[in-house]
Amino acid sequence: MTAVKSVILAAGMGSRMKSKKPKVLHALGGQPMISHLMGTVSKISAETPIVVISPDMADVAKVVAPAKTVVQPTAEGTGHAVSFALDELDGFAGTVLILYGDTPLISEETLTQMINVREGADNPAVVVLGFEPEDPLEYGRLVSSSDDELDAIVEFADASEQVRKSRLCNSGVMAIDGAVIRELIEAIGNDNAKGEYYLTDVVEIARKADRTCKFVIGDELELLGVNSRVQLAEAEKIIQRIWRLAAMDSGVTLIDPDTVFFSYDTELGQDVLVEPNVFFGPGVKVGAEARIKANSHLEGCHVGSGSQIGPFARLRPGANLGTDVKIGNFVEVKKSDLAEGVKVSHLSYIGDATIGSEANIGAGTITCNYDGYDKYQTTIGAGAFIGSNTALVAPVSVGKGAIVGAGSTVTKTVEDDALIVERANEVQKPGWASRFRALKARLKS
Ligand code: UD1
Ligand code: MG
Repeated sequence: MTAVKSVILAAGMGSRMKSKKPKVLHALGGQPMISHLMGTVSKISAETPIVVISPDMADVAKVVAPAKTVVQPTAEGTGHAVSFALDELDGFAGTVLILYGDTPLISEETLTQMINVREGADNPAVVVLGFEPEDPLEYGRLVSSSDDELDAIVEFADASEQVRKSRLCNSGVMAIDGAVIRELIEAIGNDNAKGEYYLTDVVEIARKADRTCKFVIGDELELLGVNSRVQLAEAEKIIQRIWRLAAMDSGVTLIDPDTVFFSYDTELGQDVLVEPNVFFGPGVKVGAEARIKANSHLEGCHVGSGSQIGPFARLRPGANLGTDVKIGNFVEVKKSDLAEGVKVSHLSYIGDATIGSEANIGAGTITCNYDGYDKYQTTIGAGAFIGSNTALVAPVSVGKGAIVGAGSTVTKTVEDDALIVERANEVQKPGWASRFRALKARLKS
């Protein structure tokens, strides 16, 4: 394969999203949609892509770095956008892939197929990726009189009734011969329904110069263009389905796959079992044979093998759990290291803590890690037993094997192997309750 350079168009306003945020930064599977595309492109070419952005998209430039960004000062169409990448392509005679930042689901295989056609028989100037969606909506239409040769692309706004009836649509993805891209792009005009410079015109321009143009047909599911929130949700559905199947194929059990949500980087070990309604945000790794019980939310955390999480557990960023840890219902863990065999079985908040192996944290234990200004650490030694409803006021440490009596508020260091109980003295008055009830009854009558 000869060299391939990619140009990703992302300067459009994305007005149909009705958002203050650039369209390509809307998240898909836990990362900006343009990052999906960058990931796919990096698998087929070592060349850094060129991303076309608008002047107010410094945040997009940051997300795509170290990719090169070029600025399109005003959004005057996809052809106009590509013209700003031309200087970066000067002297490059390989294949230039043009991708749209809002078409993020395209696969490595499809791009490779396009490059092969571009570099194969007849040396076509342009190869366009077409698809035949159930509902062709307002996509541009491919006009062709043969199986693989392309005559023109007509935008929906400019299409006759006859052309609109065709279901053969333009995905937006193109592979163009780098040797002629400048002359093709510079020949594009804006005499059309939208008054824009349409990239799609390169097909007719190349044909007039007696160069062949071809198309390949891709899978509709890969080529959904995200222009609205509804399409964003459709893209999410598609990508989740792919990830669920991949997880099951790799040896993970999903009891009800349709209710489990993954992120782009979720890693689940062999024989992990995921119960219904579980959400994996970015940055989650789960070791082999762990069980994630129903209605749990995990993000930025590591779950050791053999651990049991939930039901109704929340693991927040920096929760780092060793092997065979048990996190029960209504427990939240944040930025804490829990060593092997630790149990936090019910109704607790563990934040900014380090807990030694086999420690048992009783129901309702809270690490009071925040004073409104700063965060403080709690350290619990191996084998310690923290009684129910304990408040650990950080910074504080409980020694190895120590026992904290239920209901204590612990503010000072607890030595190894000590018992600490912090509680008001109990007062007991025999017979008081029945005297009280008798008094109340008299007053009511
Ligand atoms: C485009 C295609 C249409 C195709 C559809 C597939 C053209 C003229 N039309 O239409 O044939 O069926 O995609 O989804 O190419 N952009 C810029 N600068 C601009 C305009 C757009 O960078 O001035 C970028 C956008 O950020 C977006 C991409 O180009 O990532 C496509 O633009 P969009 O406005 O969504 O084009 P469509 O109307 O969807
Ligand atoms: Mg679009």
